Amino acid sequence: MTRDATKDVTKAATKPDPPHALDHYRDAAYYDHAYRRYRDDLAFYVEMATAFGGPILELGGGTGRISLALARAGHEVVMVERMPSMLARAARRLAKAPRAVRARVTTREGDLRALALGQTFPLVIGPFNVLQHLYTRDDVERALRGVREHLAPGGRFAFDVLLPEPGAMSRDPSRFYKNRAILHPTTRQRSDYAEAFDYDHDTQILTTVIRFTPRDGGAPHYDRLTQRQFFPRELEALLHYNGFEILRHDGGFTGEPIDELAESQVVLARPRP
Ligand SMILES: C[S@@+](CC[C@H](N)C(=O)[O-])C[C@H]1O[C@@H](n2cnc3c(N)ncnc32)[C@H](O)[C@@H]1O
Repeated sequence: MTRDATKDVTKAATKPDPPHALDHYRDAAYYDHAYRRYRDDLAFYVEMATAFGGPILELGGGTGRISLALARAGHEVVMVERMPSMLARAARRLAKAPRAVRARVTTREGDLRALALGQTFPLVIGPFNVLQHLYTRDDVERALRGVREHLAPGGRFAFDVLLPEPGAMSRDPSRFYKNRAILHPTTRQRSDYAEAFDYDHDTQILTTVIRFTPRDGGAPHYDRLTQRQFFPRELEALLHYNGFEILRHDGGFTGEPIDELAESQVVLARPRP
């Protein structure tokens, strides 16, 4: 087979989402269960909200983990989320929150690549790798344009994405790692959990294939987490050429350097004058 050296880059910049892009968010109860201990980012986003004020726009608000924390800290939040399953779960969580907290959160079904809220915000946030669901340059440009249009004068944009991990990107995609037992929070089914990593060097999309093998002997089923990888200087260039000035670009939520120990890239930016 010969390699096509004249690939249409325009097409690559605008092609549709990968087929399993949002699989990971279909089972919102399991999602909440799987990430129930993840809190690394809470203090950072609360600190941003305290510094820049509300109302805050959260992109890809999921089941309301961050929006609820900000509302509990007294801030008004609008969260935009694409998956009805996640929104339904957010509604359940909100229903259990005190009335005053609930009243501060507005949920909107929508795509962060086509924001049109008719409102501006002193702070826009994209917590927990949300921007890794922007798979093409066109996706990134549309999202960043939306953020710029929804920022109030002097407003800030804060988000985090994973630092690409060379180990995960060079693994054999047919090999599954990390077997452990999990109990599904609603079906109560016990399964062995394992992950394989499939990296596409062309699109820079890393697909984490999660295999659940029921302990009662049923057939395995699979979930996929499909994340675009952003290298630090690529992220810097994308922000710069889409009209942003970077104020902070760290390797963690408390100002860690971007080095071999870093897991996330934490960014604070504002529109360039
Ligand atoms: C990893 S979760 C993070 C949820 C939440 N921000 C948090 O920190 O818990 C990513 C969320 O982004 C949502 N999402 C992905 N692509 C989106 C898009 N184009 N527009 C709106 N939401 C999107 C997913 O459905 C998912 O709920």
